[in-house]
Amino acid sequence: MDPTSLQRLVFLTSLLSCSTNQARLTVTPSSSQVFKYERVSLRCEDASDGWTVRRNTSIDNRAECGVDKWGRSAGSSCNISYMNPLDSGVYWCESPEGSTSNTITITVSDGSVILQSPVLPVMEGDDVTLICRTKMADPPSADFYKDGVSIRTESDGHMTLPHVNRSDEGLYKCSVQSKGESPESRLSVSDKPTTTMDSPTASSAPPASSLHLVFRVICHLVVFCPYCISTFLMVSIYRERARAGSDQSVSMAITPPTHDEQGLDDDYDDVMSAVTTEHQF
Ligand SMILES: *[C@@H]1O[C@H](CO)[C@@H](O)[C@H](O)[C@H]1NC(C)=O
Ligand SMILES: *[C@@H]1O[C@H](CO)[C@@H](O)[C@H](O)[C@H]1NC(C)=O
Repeated sequence: MDPTSLQRLVFLTSLLSCSTNQARLTVTPSSSQVFKYERVSLRCEDASDGWTVRRNTSIDNRAECGVDKWGRSAGSSCNISYMNPLDSGVYWCESPEGSTSNTITITVSDGSVILQSPVLPVMEGDDVTLICRTKMADPPSADFYKDGVSIRTESDGHMTLPHVNRSDEGLYKCSVQSKGESPESRLSVSDKPTTTMDSPTASSAPPASSLHLVFRVICHLVVFCPYCISTFLMVSIYRERARAGSDQSVSMAITPPTHDEQGLDDDYDDVMSAVTTEHQF
């Protein structure tokens, strides 16, 4: 293989392994809380072959779907037919090399009330609706709590937080009279993209999109370094060989032919020129 195609291969391989880091975990139903015995489907999206769903729970540690006695896997997706409170935990996708996706926290309720809240961080400025659900019934009148403090009562079980910002982050739960209360789930708010710079009060943390950009830049730097190093190595190796080649032909040329070789003088010259050309790159 000639050096340029080898370099290209190194470059492409690094680029490919970099772009696979963009895998995302999605969950259906899209809720951070589910009832016991509910069915849940997890999928690794934008993931290449070999990515699997893993989880940490109170009883599992990096346990792989379909392998470590939970879930049924097919390719990069994973189903749990009957959720159990012991399935509560953190789920993510992982490549064979150990790259990971976003994480999703799922809480399984043994009771009769759940809070349906977004599984992924919501964007600053979005309207977010939290729904209080009971089994087999329309959302009832419910009280909503944030960080343990009652904040609102909604007669239809839907609480909308308009234009969320960082101050809306926290642990939410709801309760329904005579039914009980839901587990708590965290609502995370990520900064809005930098393209709309109309919010002077935005927090000092880098916005999600620029954070993403930083990751991409780091990613490309990481790709570029092996490329530079391999280029450098290639060039020095070939220079070294070219030099060794010419040195060798010079030293052999000045070696006087011994009497054994006298008769082969013509052949020797042919071999010498072959050796010399072989080393001229
Ligand atoms: C899962 O658990 C391991 C060991 O406790 C820990 O190192 C790792 O960070 C956890 N992963 C997530 C996504 O919480
Ligand atoms: C998981 O469930 C979905 C539908 O709910 C189905 O299409 C898919 O084939 C299932 N996958 C496995 C591995 O059972």
